[in-house]
Amino acid sequence: LRLAEEFGTPLYVLSEPEFRRRCAEYARSWALGGVSYAAKANSSLAVLAWAADEGLGVDVASVGELEAAHRAGVPGSRCRLHGNFKTTDEVAAAAGLGVGEIVADSLGEIEALAKAGWQSRVVLRLAPDVEAGGGSKISTAGTDTKFGMSIATGDAAQAVRRCLELGLRLHGYHCHVGSMLMDEGPVLAAARVLASFAAEAGSATGYWPESLNLGGGLGVSYVPGQEPLAPADYCAKLSAAVRPLLTGRLEGTSVELEPGRSVAAPSGVTLYRVGVIKRSSAGVRHVIVDGGMSDNPRPALYGAQYSVVSDAAGPPEPATVSGRHCETDLLFPGTMLPSGLREGDVLQVLCTGAYNAGMASNYNRFLRPASVALRGDGSARLVERRETLDDLFRREEALAR
Ligand SMILES: Cc1ncc(COP(=O)(O)O)c(C=O)c1O
Repeated sequence: LRLAEEFGTPLYVLSEPEFRRRCAEYARSWALGGVSYAAKANSSLAVLAWAADEGLGVDVASVGELEAAHRAGVPGSRCRLHGNFKTTDEVAAAAGLGVGEIVADSLGEIEALAKAGWQSRVVLRLAPDVEAGGGSKISTAGTDTKFGMSIATGDAAQAVRRCLELGLRLHGYHCHVGSMLMDEGPVLAAARVLASFAAEAGSATGYWPESLNLGGGLGVSYVPGQEPLAPADYCAKLSAAVRPLLTGRLEGTSVELEPGRSVAAPSGVTLYRVGVIKRSSAGVRHVIVDGGMSDNPRPALYGAQYSVVSDAAGPPEPATVSGRHCETDLLFPGTMLPSGLREGDVLQVLCTGAYNAGMASNYNRFLRPASVALRGDGSARLVERRETLDDLFRREEALAR
């Protein structure tokens, strides 16, 4: 409430201690290799600096995210560049910033990297044909995926041969099966596929990977009933199951993780102010807040659900929370909110630290919210100011008269 008064609404609030604690939990619990934070979940400069400070590398999926890491003081050598289509300019920019590792996603990209004289490590994104994830839009390793090189078609084996022929610094293999996973099962299935591919490719070419990267994907509890493993338990179960795969020439191979959501989401909440409460002819209590799909597109994109909290008085009663965009802009249908909720009250939406601020848009020329970081002592610091009308028109050319 205090923050809503001080900084206005809608407002993204990030708990620095919680974010750092989650990074540290991964770093402490994962014993098989390095952990990188997937910047796409939330790439505020402050957030990237916290992740690096806690000993994590940073995964970036664009030059914009790479520049964010750079501006946050993360050395390029601690960054890994992803992307299923990287332009020549992006690869050049990555080389210029000294990116430590690039994830090659296609056979054509391998040729392009060699042509560009790429010097640092290359890992191959493989498609292990594992169907997983909390929905088709965040499932990234099934038989129809656009990501990576297929093991089944022989592209993956061809990629290894080409890297060796071209003299690229092949470092290992990568996969990311999807997001909102509740346990280690799907990632373990992919790890098995990667390990057996590594053994086959090893016997055929003599090349053995120094690293197997299992991506991110652990889910969070947005609403009751979603009960994913805690990061420490996930790391313990996954490492216990993956360790036996690292035998023979794979002994000593490091295994990497790159979590995003499970670090960032529970570290953030969004504050909205209720603008309008009305009842429809069907008796629905509509609660309309001062934000919407421009600051949280996930309900519209995926039907994502969230927990909404209010400290208004009265017993919980059904409510449908909508935003104020020119669509139905249904944010949180089927919510229970106190009967005493009034216009002007503040709502708190939990678990919005990932894929909210980063996916925000200016639809309807809305101004993107500010982000504040809450410190351990309860004090708050602005990490990204609210947009202004001037920000909205910065890219427009003067009108031709
Ligand atoms: C390659 C890669 N790594 C890591 C992640 C992070 O996934 P999550 O936020 O589910 O942990 C993603 C998400 O899309 C990804 O594509």
